[in-house]
Amino acid sequence: MDIKKVLVTGGAGFIGSHTAVELLNTGFELVVIDNFSNSEPWIIKQIESITQKKISFYQADVTNQLSIQDIFNKEKPDVVIHFAAYKSVGESVTKPLMYFQNNIDSLMVILSCMSQSNCKKLVFSSSCTIYGNNHPNPLIEDYAFSDLPHAYGSSKQICETILQKTTIANQFNIISLRYFNPIGAHPSGLLGELPKGTPNNIMPYITQVAIGKLPFLTIFGNDYPTPDGTCIRDYIHISDLAEAHVFSCKRLLTSNIAPPYEVFNLGTGTGVSVLELINHFETENNVKIPYKIGLRRPGDAVCTYANPEKSKKNLKWEAKRSIKEMVKDGWRWQLFIK
Ligand code: UFG
Repeated sequence: MDIKKVLVTGGAGFIGSHTAVELLNTGFELVVIDNFSNSEPWIIKQIESITQKKISFYQADVTNQLSIQDIFNKEKPDVVIHFAAYKSVGESVTKPLMYFQNNIDSLMVILSCMSQSNCKKLVFSSSCTIYGNNHPNPLIEDYAFSDLPHAYGSSKQICETILQKTTIANQFNIISLRYFNPIGAHPSGLLGELPKGTPNNIMPYITQVAIGKLPFLTIFGNDYPTPDGTCIRDYIHISDLAEAHVFSCKRLLTSNIAPPYEVFNLGTGTGVSVLELINHFETENNVKIPYKIGLRRPGDAVCTYANPEKSKKNLKWEAKRSIKEMVKDGWRWQLFIK
Protein backbone atom coordinates (compact mmCIF):
# COMPACT_ATOMS: atom_id res chain seq x y z
CA MET A 1 0.00 0.00 0.00
CA ASP A 2 1.42 3.44 -0.88
CA ILE A 3 1.51 6.00 1.92
CA LYS A 4 -1.96 7.20 2.81
CA LYS A 5 -3.00 10.37 4.57
CA VAL A 6 -5.27 10.26 7.62
CA LEU A 7 -7.01 13.37 8.93
CA VAL A 8 -7.74 13.18 12.66
CA THR A 9 -10.11 15.62 14.38
CA GLY A 10 -9.54 16.01 18.10
CA GLY A 11 -6.03 14.64 17.70
CA ALA A 12 -4.69 16.37 20.82
CA GLY A 13 -7.24 14.64 23.08
CA PHE A 14 -6.73 11.47 25.11
CA ILE A 15 -7.80 8.92 22.50
CA GLY A 16 -6.87 11.10 19.51
CA SER A 17 -3.27 11.68 20.63
CA HIS A 18 -2.60 7.97 21.29
CA THR A 19 -4.16 7.11 17.94
CA ALA A 20 -1.93 9.74 16.28
CA VAL A 21 1.14 7.96 17.70
CA GLU A 22 0.01 4.56 16.40
CA LEU A 23 -0.84 5.96 12.95
CA LEU A 24 2.55 7.65 12.61
CA ASN A 25 4.36 4.52 13.84
CA THR A 26 2.50 2.50 11.21
CA GLY A 27 3.65 4.84 8.44
CA PHE A 28 0.55 6.91 7.75
CA GLU A 29 0.87 10.61 6.97
CA LEU A 30 -1.04 12.60 9.55
CA VAL A 31 -3.14 15.75 9.58
CA VAL A 32 -4.52 16.81 12.96
CA ILE A 33 -7.26 19.35 13.67
CA ASP A 34 -7.95 20.42 17.26
CA ASN A 35 -9.29 23.59 18.87
CA PHE A 36 -7.74 22.73 22.27
CA SER A 37 -11.12 23.14 23.97
CA ASN A 38 -10.32 20.10 26.10
CA SER A 39 -6.63 19.54 25.33
CA GLU A 40 -3.27 21.31 25.27
CA PRO A 41 -0.97 22.45 22.43
CA TRP A 42 2.11 20.77 23.96
CA ILE A 43 0.49 17.35 23.40
CA ILE A 44 1.19 17.77 19.66
CA LYS A 45 4.90 18.12 20.48
CA GLN A 46 4.76 14.99 22.64
CA ILE A 47 3.31 12.98 19.73
CA GLU A 48 6.09 14.24 17.47
CA SER A 49 8.80 13.53 19.99
CA ILE A 50 7.60 9.97 20.70
CA THR A 51 7.35 9.13 17.00
CA GLN A 52 10.12 11.40 15.64
CA LYS A 53 7.69 12.29 12.85
CA LYS A 54 5.96 15.52 11.83
CA ILE A 55 2.25 16.26 11.94
CA SER A 56 0.47 18.72 9.71
CA PHE A 57 -1.46 20.56 12.43
CA TYR A 58 -4.40 23.00 12.23
CA GLN A 59 -6.00 24.79 15.18
CA ALA A 60 -9.62 24.96 14.09
CA ASP A 61 -13.15 24.26 15.28
CA VAL A 62 -14.73 21.30 13.51
CA THR A 63 -18.14 23.00 13.52
CA ASN A 64 -16.72 25.75 11.27
CA GLN A 65 -17.45 24.42 7.80
CA LEU A 66 -15.46 27.04 5.86
CA SER A 67 -12.22 26.51 7.73
CA ILE A 68 -12.58 22.72 7.72
CA GLN A 69 -13.34 22.66 3.99
CA ASP A 70 -10.16 24.71 3.40
CA ILE A 71 -8.15 22.06 5.26
CA PHE A 72 -9.75 19.24 3.23
CA ASN A 73 -9.04 21.12 -0.03
CA LYS A 74 -5.43 21.58 0.92
CA GLU A 75 -4.71 18.19 2.47
CA LYS A 76 -6.92 15.81 0.44
CA PRO A 77 -7.00 13.05 3.08
CA ASP A 78 -7.67 9.40 2.18
CA VAL A 79 -9.34 8.60 5.52
CA VAL A 80 -10.84 10.68 8.33
CA ILE A 81 -11.01 9.71 12.01
CA HIS A 82 -13.50 11.93 13.82
CA PHE A 83 -12.85 12.18 17.58
CA ALA A 84 -13.64 15.85 18.22
CA ALA A 85 -16.69 15.94 20.51
CA TYR A 86 -17.84 16.90 23.98
CA LYS A 87 -17.66 13.83 26.22
CA SER A 88 -18.82 14.49 29.77
CA VAL A 89 -21.95 12.54 30.63
CA GLY A 90 -22.72 14.76 33.65
CA GLU A 91 -22.23 18.06 31.82
CA SER A 92 -24.46 16.83 29.00
CA VAL A 93 -27.34 16.47 31.46
CA THR A 94 -27.21 20.17 32.35
CA LYS A 95 -26.23 21.42 28.86
CA PRO A 96 -28.03 19.11 26.41
CA LEU A 97 -28.35 21.71 23.63
CA MET A 98 -24.64 22.42 23.71
CA TYR A 99 -23.92 18.69 23.40
CA PHE A 100 -26.35 18.02 20.56
CA GLN A 101 -25.24 21.11 18.69
CA ASN A 102 -21.51 20.47 18.96
CA ASN A 103 -21.47 16.70 18.50
CA ILE A 104 -23.97 16.57 15.65
CA ASP A 105 -22.89 19.77 13.84
CA SER A 106 -19.27 18.65 13.80
CA LEU A 107 -20.20 15.30 12.26
CA MET A 108 -22.35 17.01 9.62
CA VAL A 109 -19.46 19.34 8.74
CA ILE A 110 -17.09 16.38 8.41
CA LEU A 111 -19.50 14.43 6.19
CA SER A 112 -20.16 17.45 4.02
CA CYS A 113 -16.43 18.20 3.61
CA MET A 114 -15.79 14.54 2.80
CA SER A 115 -18.46 14.62 0.11
CA GLN A 116 -17.10 17.84 -1.41
CA SER A 117 -13.57 16.43 -1.42
CA ASN A 118 -14.46 12.96 -2.61
CA CYS A 119 -13.03 11.41 0.55
CA LYS A 120 -15.16 8.36 1.28
CA LYS A 121 -13.66 6.66 4.31
CA LEU A 122 -14.45 7.52 7.92
CA VAL A 123 -13.77 6.06 11.35
CA PHE A 124 -16.20 7.41 13.94
CA SER A 125 -15.66 7.59 17.68
CA SER A 126 -18.67 6.04 19.41
CA SER A 127 -19.24 4.65 22.87
CA CYS A 128 -20.64 1.59 24.61
CA THR A 129 -22.95 4.02 26.40
CA ILE A 130 -25.30 3.71 23.38
CA TYR A 131 -26.35 0.24 24.65
CA GLY A 132 -27.83 1.68 27.86
CA ASN A 133 -28.25 -0.47 30.95
CA ASN A 134 -30.91 -2.96 29.90
CA HIS A 135 -29.03 -5.57 27.88
CA PRO A 136 -27.32 -8.65 29.34
CA ASN A 137 -23.52 -8.85 29.30
CA PRO A 138 -21.38 -9.38 27.35
CA LEU A 139 -22.69 -6.64 25.07
CA ILE A 140 -22.87 -7.45 21.37
CA GLU A 141 -23.05 -5.04 18.47
CA ASP A 142 -26.50 -6.30 17.43
CA TYR A 143 -28.21 -4.99 20.57
CA ALA A 144 -30.60 -2.09 19.98
CA PHE A 145 -29.98 1.41 21.30
CA SER A 146 -31.69 2.10 24.64
CA ASP A 147 -33.34 5.35 25.62
CA LEU A 148 -30.70 7.33 27.55
CA PRO A 149 -31.06 10.02 30.21
CA HIS A 150 -28.08 12.06 28.92
CA ALA A 151 -27.42 14.06 25.75
CA TYR A 152 -23.86 12.73 25.47
CA GLY A 153 -25.00 9.18 24.79
CA SER A 154 -28.03 10.29 22.78
CA SER A 155 -25.77 12.41 20.56
CA LYS A 156 -23.62 9.33 19.85
CA GLN A 157 -26.74 7.32 18.98
CA ILE A 158 -27.93 10.08 16.63
CA CYS A 159 -24.50 10.30 15.00
CA GLU A 160 -24.41 6.52 14.45
CA THR A 161 -27.89 6.70 12.92
CA ILE A 162 -26.83 9.54 10.60
CA LEU A 163 -23.83 7.49 9.48
CA GLN A 164 -25.81 4.34 8.93
CA LYS A 165 -28.40 6.19 6.88
CA THR A 166 -25.99 8.22 4.72
CA THR A 167 -23.37 5.58 3.91
CA ILE A 168 -24.95 3.97 0.89
CA ALA A 169 -26.39 7.06 -0.83
CA ASN A 170 -23.05 8.84 -0.49
CA GLN A 171 -20.91 5.78 -1.29
CA PHE A 172 -19.13 6.17 2.02
CA ASN A 173 -17.24 3.41 3.82
CA ILE A 174 -17.62 3.92 7.56
CA ILE A 175 -16.59 2.15 10.75
CA SER A 176 -18.04 3.21 14.12
CA LEU A 177 -15.99 2.10 17.11
CA ARG A 178 -17.81 1.65 20.40
CA TYR A 179 -15.33 2.26 23.20
CA PHE A 180 -15.63 0.63 26.59
CA ASN A 181 -13.47 2.24 29.34
CA PRO A 182 -10.08 3.37 28.03
CA ILE A 183 -7.47 3.95 30.76
CA GLY A 184 -3.68 3.95 31.11
CA ALA A 185 -1.25 5.97 29.07
CA HIS A 186 1.50 5.60 26.48
CA PRO A 187 4.19 3.29 27.96
CA SER A 188 6.85 5.99 27.39
CA GLY A 189 5.19 8.04 30.14
CA LEU A 190 5.19 11.02 27.76
CA LEU A 191 1.54 10.96 26.74
CA GLY A 192 -1.70 10.38 28.64
CA GLU A 193 -4.97 11.85 29.79
CA LEU A 194 -5.20 15.53 30.79
CA PRO A 195 -8.54 16.07 32.53
CA LYS A 196 -9.59 19.68 33.10
CA GLY A 197 -10.40 20.36 36.76
CA THR A 198 -11.38 17.50 39.08
CA PRO A 199 -11.57 14.27 37.07
CA ASN A 200 -14.95 12.59 36.55
CA ASN A 201 -13.48 9.28 35.44
CA ILE A 202 -11.99 6.81 37.85
CA MET A 203 -8.44 6.36 36.56
CA PRO A 204 -7.31 10.01 36.57
CA TYR A 205 -9.05 10.34 39.95
CA ILE A 206 -7.02 7.42 41.36
CA THR A 207 -3.71 8.75 40.01
CA GLN A 208 -4.42 12.22 41.46
CA VAL A 209 -5.17 10.65 44.85
CA ALA A 210 -1.97 8.59 44.58
CA ILE A 211 0.15 11.70 43.97
CA GLY A 212 -1.58 13.63 46.78
CA LYS A 213 -3.49 16.16 44.65
CA LEU A 214 -6.78 14.77 45.96
CA PRO A 215 -7.20 13.40 49.51
CA PHE A 216 -9.19 10.23 48.79
CA LEU A 217 -11.32 8.44 46.23
CA THR A 218 -15.05 8.15 46.75
CA ILE A 219 -16.32 4.78 45.56
CA PHE A 220 -19.77 5.39 44.16
CA GLY A 221 -21.64 2.61 45.94
CA ASN A 222 -20.63 -0.81 47.32
CA ASP A 223 -24.12 -2.29 47.52
CA TYR A 224 -24.48 -3.32 43.87
CA PRO A 225 -25.35 -6.93 43.00
CA THR A 226 -21.73 -7.79 42.08
CA PRO A 227 -19.27 -10.09 43.94
CA ASP A 228 -17.67 -7.22 45.92
CA GLY A 229 -20.60 -4.79 45.68
CA THR A 230 -18.85 -2.27 43.39
CA CYS A 231 -19.59 -1.60 39.71
CA ILE A 232 -17.89 -3.59 36.98
CA ARG A 233 -16.41 -2.11 33.79
CA ASP A 234 -14.39 -3.33 30.81
CA TYR A 235 -11.18 -1.30 31.17
CA ILE A 236 -9.03 -1.26 28.05
CA HIS A 237 -5.48 0.05 27.60
CA ILE A 238 -5.49 3.29 25.62
CA SER A 239 -2.76 1.97 23.28
CA ASP A 240 -4.86 -1.11 22.43
CA LEU A 241 -7.81 1.15 21.72
CA ALA A 242 -5.60 3.41 19.58
CA GLU A 243 -4.32 0.43 17.58
CA ALA A 244 -7.89 -0.53 16.70
CA HIS A 245 -8.12 2.75 14.76
CA VAL A 246 -5.10 1.77 12.68
CA PHE A 247 -6.74 -1.60 11.95
CA SER A 248 -9.92 0.26 10.97
CA CYS A 249 -8.07 2.57 8.57
CA LYS A 250 -6.35 -0.41 6.97
CA ARG A 251 -9.66 -2.25 6.63
CA LEU A 252 -11.29 0.78 4.99
CA LEU A 253 -8.35 1.25 2.62
CA THR A 254 -7.83 -2.34 1.56
CA SER A 255 -11.01 -4.29 1.99
CA ASN A 256 -13.49 -4.68 -0.83
CA ILE A 257 -15.53 -7.18 1.11
CA ALA A 258 -16.33 -4.98 4.10
CA PRO A 259 -19.95 -3.85 4.34
CA PRO A 260 -20.22 -0.08 3.76
CA TYR A 261 -21.16 0.58 7.40
CA GLU A 262 -19.82 -1.46 10.29
CA VAL A 263 -19.76 -1.13 14.07
CA PHE A 264 -17.26 -2.75 16.41
CA ASN A 265 -16.95 -3.02 20.18
CA LEU A 266 -13.56 -2.07 21.55
CA GLY A 267 -13.18 -3.83 24.87
CA THR A 268 -11.24 -6.72 26.38
CA GLY A 269 -14.27 -8.86 27.22
CA THR A 270 -13.30 -8.91 30.90
CA GLY A 271 -15.08 -7.07 33.68
CA VAL A 272 -13.13 -5.50 36.56
CA SER A 273 -14.75 -4.01 39.68
CA VAL A 274 -13.83 -0.65 41.20
CA LEU A 275 -12.26 -2.39 44.22
CA GLU A 276 -10.28 -4.75 41.97
CA LEU A 277 -9.00 -1.78 39.97
CA ILE A 278 -7.83 -0.05 43.16
CA ASN A 279 -6.14 -3.29 44.30
CA HIS A 280 -4.29 -3.65 41.00
CA PHE A 281 -3.16 -0.04 41.19
CA GLU A 282 -1.89 -0.38 44.76
CA THR A 283 -0.13 -3.70 44.16
CA GLU A 284 1.56 -2.83 40.87
CA ASN A 285 2.65 0.66 41.89
CA ASN A 286 3.23 0.12 45.58
CA VAL A 287 1.14 3.15 46.59
CA LYS A 288 -1.90 3.40 48.84
CA ILE A 289 -5.20 4.76 47.56
CA PRO A 290 -7.27 6.01 50.50
CA TYR A 291 -10.96 5.66 49.70
CA LYS A 292 -14.39 6.15 51.23
CA ILE A 293 -17.63 4.51 50.27
CA GLY A 294 -20.13 7.05 48.97
CA LEU A 295 -23.59 7.02 47.46
CA ARG A 296 -24.31 5.44 44.11
CA ARG A 297 -23.75 7.86 41.19
CA PRO A 298 -27.07 8.41 39.40
CA GLY A 299 -27.15 6.72 36.01
CA ASP A 300 -24.24 4.32 36.63
CA ALA A 301 -24.66 0.87 35.11
CA VAL A 302 -24.02 -2.03 37.50
CA CYS A 303 -21.89 -3.95 35.06
CA THR A 304 -20.80 -3.50 31.45
CA TYR A 305 -18.33 -5.53 29.44
CA ALA A 306 -17.91 -6.21 25.76
CA ASN A 307 -18.22 -9.22 23.61
CA PRO A 308 -15.10 -8.56 21.49
CA GLU A 309 -15.62 -11.48 19.06
CA LYS A 310 -16.79 -9.42 16.07
CA SER A 311 -13.74 -7.13 16.35
CA LYS A 312 -11.45 -10.17 16.53
CA LYS A 313 -13.07 -11.88 13.57
CA ASN A 314 -13.64 -8.99 11.16
CA LEU A 315 -11.35 -6.17 12.26
CA LYS A 316 -8.61 -8.72 13.10
CA TRP A 317 -7.91 -6.70 16.23
CA GLU A 318 -7.89 -7.66 19.87
CA ALA A 319 -6.75 -6.00 23.08
CA LYS A 320 -3.36 -7.37 24.22
CA ARG A 321 -2.35 -5.30 27.23
CA SER A 322 -3.19 -6.39 30.79
CA ILE A 323 -4.86 -4.48 33.60
CA LYS A 324 -1.42 -4.41 35.26
CA GLU A 325 0.04 -2.51 32.32
CA MET A 326 -2.93 -0.14 32.39
CA VAL A 327 -2.40 0.86 36.02
CA LYS A 328 1.39 1.03 35.72
CA ASP A 329 1.30 3.19 32.60
CA GLY A 330 -1.39 5.45 34.09
CA TRP A 331 0.78 6.04 37.16
CA ARG A 332 3.95 6.68 35.09
CA TRP A 333 2.07 9.43 33.24
CA GLN A 334 0.81 11.03 36.47
CA LEU A 335 4.40 11.07 37.78
CA PHE A 336 5.47 12.81 34.55
CA ILE A 337 2.86 15.57 34.71
CA LYS A 338 2.95 15.77 38.56
N1 UFG B 1 -16.21 5.67 39.99
C1 UFG B 1 -16.07 5.82 41.35
N2 UFG B 1 -15.54 6.96 41.81
C2 UFG B 1 -15.14 7.99 41.01
C3 UFG B 1 -15.29 7.83 39.61
C4 UFG B 1 -15.84 6.66 39.15
O1 UFG B 1 -16.42 4.92 42.12
O2 UFG B 1 -14.68 9.03 41.51
C5 UFG B 1 -16.77 4.41 39.48
C6 UFG B 1 -18.06 4.60 38.73
O3 UFG B 1 -19.16 4.53 39.61
C7 UFG B 1 -18.02 3.44 37.75
C8 UFG B 1 -16.53 3.25 37.45
O4 UFG B 1 -15.85 3.90 38.51
O5 UFG B 1 -18.49 2.30 38.37
C9 UFG B 1 -16.10 3.85 36.15
O6 UFG B 1 -16.52 5.20 36.10
P1 UFG B 1 -15.98 6.21 34.98
O7 UFG B 1 -16.59 7.54 35.26
O8 UFG B 1 -14.50 6.14 34.88
O9 UFG B 1 -16.55 5.57 33.63
P2 UFG B 1 -18.06 5.31 33.17
O10 UFG B 1 -18.15 3.84 32.96
O11 UFG B 1 -19.03 5.92 34.06
O12 UFG B 1 -18.12 6.17 31.84
C10 UFG B 1 -17.33 5.85 30.74
C11 UFG B 1 -17.01 7.09 29.92
C12 UFG B 1 -18.24 7.65 29.28
C13 UFG B 1 -19.01 6.59 28.57
C14 UFG B 1 -19.28 5.43 29.49
C15 UFG B 1 -19.94 4.30 28.79
O13 UFG B 1 -16.42 8.09 30.73
O14 UFG B 1 -17.86 8.64 28.33
O15 UFG B 1 -18.05 4.93 29.99
O16 UFG B 1 -20.42 3.38 29.70
F1 UFG B 1 -20.19 7.07 28.13
